[in-house]
Amino acid sequence: MKDVYKELKPPERILLGPGPSNVNPRVYKAMMTPVIGYLDSELLRIMDEVVEMLRKVFKTKNSITFPLSGTGTAGMETALCNVIEPEDEVLVCIKGYFGARIKDIVERLGGKPIIIEVPWGEIIPPEKVEKMLKEKKIKLVAIVHAETSTGVLQPLKEISNIVKKTDALLLVDTVASLGGTSIETDELGIDIVYSATQKCLSGPPGLAPITFSKKAIEIIRKRKNNISSFYLDINLLEKYWFGEKRKYHHTISMSLIYALHEALQIVLEEGLEKRFERHRRNAEALRSGLKAMGLKLIAKEGYQAPMITAVAIPDGVSDKQIRARLLKEYGIEIGGGLGEFSGKIWRIGLMGESSTQKNVLLVISALEKLLSEAGYKVKPGTGVSAVSAYYQS
Ligand SMILES: Cc1ncc(COP(=O)(O)O)c(C=O)c1O
Repeated sequence: MKDVYKELKPPERILLGPGPSNVNPRVYKAMMTPVIGYLDSELLRIMDEVVEMLRKVFKTKNSITFPLSGTGTAGMETALCNVIEPEDEVLVCIKGYFGARIKDIVERLGGKPIIIEVPWGEIIPPEKVEKMLKEKKIKLVAIVHAETSTGVLQPLKEISNIVKKTDALLLVDTVASLGGTSIETDELGIDIVYSATQKCLSGPPGLAPITFSKKAIEIIRKRKNNISSFYLDINLLEKYWFGEKRKYHHTISMSLIYALHEALQIVLEEGLEKRFERHRRNAEALRSGLKAMGLKLIAKEGYQAPMITAVAIPDGVSDKQIRARLLKEYGIEIGGGLGEFSGKIWRIGLMGESSTQKNVLLVISALEKLLSEAGYKVKPGTGVSAVSAYYQS
């Protein structure tokens, strides 16, 4: 055991994995501002501004909109544990790793998951949701928007129209998508939406923005059983986040609130639609480079998420070796596959601050070189030329 440890000096990385993404220096600077009391009027004012900015990003007027303490999974747990009671039937749409996590949580809460499952890489067909809603008495339909494990972006309009015609609530996981593509919470009538700060919002991990519709809140108020979690109980959290007389619930991390405040400000300064367009263009450029190199994308045309691209690892190429070399020689982190895709795909994220033309060119040229050295047949310059041509078009 050492007596004294060295000062921390984590390496600088270019974060092109499934999150976290690179953090803007303005956000780090905000985190250096002083910690103050959890009921200090200045902190409460900053919290109110965070709430206002989150409503803009979620495109909602929902009053209960705020960041939870915890990562995206805390958002998932909160959404579910406040609504689900034992024996409630929950329609869980599984098209990848995170849909399966929702099922796990529903089961832990004593709910009954009714599953619609499609092969990884595909979307959930709306008609399957419609059929299940006719056959069963579903309390909540849960679906992941951008499935980070496959790079698939689920269209939400048709499904939301179907769910709207029933008494069921619609819950959407936007952990990967919020800040990178439009989330039309009010227009689509989505009842619960949660996210995380470390992906397209480009903050540090640690907070989970969430929003609840009036209908969802009414259902929570009418529960028969107590909410099993004290920490994630919306009725208690509401008394700290909203109203004239704010009441202690738990000691939030002011530093993370400052970080989110700055990150949201950066998002709104750029402008939502401009930001979405930047994500769309850079992802398209990346895909054109990967395809030119003969690599196979997992998500089909039309359903490709603009913040995460999953690509099959060519036969005979070592997943671990390429990722290790990218990190060591270029400082680039990309993600490996999760679950059934482990060792079979790479996940390249272009989220928030990390979604830049420079990063696309860098990762494509690095992959081109490393793949060629690993024995994969690719003509030098093929990927980079395709990316350059895309940007020039
Ligand atoms: C779609 C999706 N949902 C949920 C999560 C869980 O979020 P966290 O790792 O922040 O707890 C992730 C994380 O990658 C995700 O991509």
